[in-house]
Amino acid sequence: MPVTIILGTQWGDEGKGKAIDTFAGDFDYVARYNGGNNAGHTIINEFGEFKIHLVPSGIFYPKTKCLIGGGVVIDPAVLIEEMNSLRKAGVKLEKRLFISQRSHLIMPYHKILDGLYEEAKGAGATGTTRRGIGPTFADKISYNGIRWSDFTDKDIFAEKLRVQLGLKNKIIVALGGSPLDFEKVRDEYLGYYAEIKPFITELFPIVQNGLKTGKKFLLEQAMGSILDPDWGTYPFVTGSTTLASAATGGLGIPPRAITRVIGVTKAYTTRVGAGPMPTEVKDDAHAEKALSEVAATTGRVRRGGWFDAEVVRFASQVNGIDRLFLTKLDVLSEFDEIKICTGYEFNGRKVHYHDLDSYQLDKVKPIYRIAKGWKEDIRGVRKFKDLPARARAYVETIEKLVGVKIGWVTNGPERDAIIKR
Ligand code: GDP
Ligand code: IMO
Ligand code: MG
Repeated sequence: MPVTIILGTQWGDEGKGKAIDTFAGDFDYVARYNGGNNAGHTIINEFGEFKIHLVPSGIFYPKTKCLIGGGVVIDPAVLIEEMNSLRKAGVKLEKRLFISQRSHLIMPYHKILDGLYEEAKGAGATGTTRRGIGPTFADKISYNGIRWSDFTDKDIFAEKLRVQLGLKNKIIVALGGSPLDFEKVRDEYLGYYAEIKPFITELFPIVQNGLKTGKKFLLEQAMGSILDPDWGTYPFVTGSTTLASAATGGLGIPPRAITRVIGVTKAYTTRVGAGPMPTEVKDDAHAEKALSEVAATTGRVRRGGWFDAEVVRFASQVNGIDRLFLTKLDVLSEFDEIKICTGYEFNGRKVHYHDLDSYQLDKVKPIYRIAKGWKEDIRGVRKFKDLPARARAYVETIEKLVGVKIGWVTNGPERDAIIKR
């Protein structure tokens, strides 16, 4: 398919890295269009194990070129570190990685502000990654951002930085922090620019010529659909839109060019940070332990819960998902019984995800269907028909409840742990 989007249908960490790694070898380009280094996409392959934050997950296939679109915000120190660790593992980046000159930079004050806003909100904090994501997107939208293109004229960059530091230092100092030094920040960022410059370009001709000549694009979303600022659990969301539609602005791809949307879905649910999560497990120590994980970016604990069909159905509809890529089925092998949330009840009424705001969603009663567990190690299975009958039934139940076919089931973190249907 010429333009395929792979996106998360829950609260992030669905296994997008693994999904991209499965398909990337068949594509000419893999491109990121949203988010920043709040993302952490895990890939396990012959180069090793990586948790990549900014570089598209297609970088491991030598013939695949990787694009970081203008919709992405970049912390240059994180990007340089990531590029160096990829090089060290034997991955070639030259003439393979292209970064949009339109992408905005995460500046030191964005990270400080991220922390100050979180602390001011106290118990109502979002639980951000504190990578400066929200404040950087806020500056972009309020015309206060700094982009790579600003560095082509060092005076323009310096002037913009001077104005922003004047503003931001006032807030930082008022809240008890130490002001940032203009010359220090300027020189630090000029140094980053010098290192990254060979990779910075305008992506428009690459994308347009690629579409014209039938090149295949795989678009790698970051975060998950339910972290979208409009359609997610606001204010417990992220700073950039995470939906399929974001690929259009984030990469300059016309909506009509998008031919397929694949939704990555965990066989259960996780969430990092604050905010409602109707199926979170709270009163069952065994399930809590089995379903929680360690976050790839911050090392925090991901909250664990049962599969929520209401959320994935919503994500499938809002994104126009053609097929689901179901991950981590193996994690459920240890359960005698597995709960599946089929919908919600609120004040005695059946409601949908989209009917409620975050504070109401926090109070819904999930309606559960109980499935019998298969209690068998399924990690080595490579054919759907070889899965235990109850595991197959679980997959088919999800398919029916969500209303979208499941094209792939994964049963281990490694590249080959996948069942194609
Ligand atoms: P992403 O942000 O959507 O790319 O997901 P993350 O990489 O943050 O989190 C997914 C985690 O699940 C990673 O640790 C993966 O290695 C792991 N993973 C992916 N697929 C499977 C699977 O089928 N089974 C198991 N056990 N782990 C998986
Ligand atoms: P990947 O791409 C899971 C969450 C944070 C927090 C909220 C806002 O690996 O799926 P931010 O730092 O973006 O302002 O934090 O969004 N969050 C993610 N959760 N996976 C991610 O990315 C996330 N990126 C942001 O935990 O709740
Ligand atoms: Mg992740």
